[in-house]
Amino acid sequence: MRAVVVYESMYGNTHLVADAIGAGLAAACKVSVVPVSHAVPAILADAELVVVGGPTHVHGMSRAATRKAAVEAANKPVSPLKVEADALGPGLRDWFGSLGHYPLKAAAFDTRMHGPAALTGRASKGVDRQLRAHGFDVVAEPESFLVTKQDRLEPQETTRAREWGAKLAAAIAPARAAGGQS
Ligand SMILES: Cc1cc2nc3c(=O)[nH]c(=O)nc-3n(C[C@H](O)[C@H](O)[C@H](O)COP(=O)(O)O)c2cc1C
Repeated sequence: MRAVVVYESMYGNTHLVADAIGAGLAAACKVSVVPVSHAVPAILADAELVVVGGPTHVHGMSRAATRKAAVEAANKPVSPLKVEADALGPGLRDWFGSLGHYPLKAAAFDTRMHGPAALTGRASKGVDRQLRAHGFDVVAEPESFLVTKQDRLEPQETTRAREWGAKLAAAIAPARAAGGQS
């Protein structure tokens, strides 16, 4: 079985989470972890599971203006943040905008600030909605991984992401067994 993790990331946290989810999936699947800027539709061709996530910006998925603001914030002399090579885009919204219909299993995740989701918002809700609109069979509730006010992953979040990846792989394993696939 092959799984693909597609992620968007400005400051590297969602990238770390995507890598950890990929590590969790790797026990059961061949995994590709791909930044959204490189996620050409062909990478989904022989995948059985697609996991998609990005940072929460202004309560939802990023937009060009929020990515620009993120880069400007990191470029301030006092900022310790470094931006990912392709931080300015395209983002997940653009990716979904040009994506076709895919009857594959899928799940959504995000990174966001600590706090009630009703206050922080969460990009994974929008990702989940887009996955369903594009025909994906969503197999898990959207999941959030938390960053500190300094934009660093909270302790244990990569462990939790690895466990979540392993749980996703286990969740789709019974369906594969019933279908007689290897
Ligand atoms: C422009 C901008 C807007 C943001 N808006 C929110 C928000 O509405 N809710 C939230 O929880 N976090 C918000 N954040 C924090 C991001 O969620 C956080 O930077 C991100 O999860 C870090 O992931 P990354 O390192 O992969 O970019 C915002 C960050 C930026 C730069």
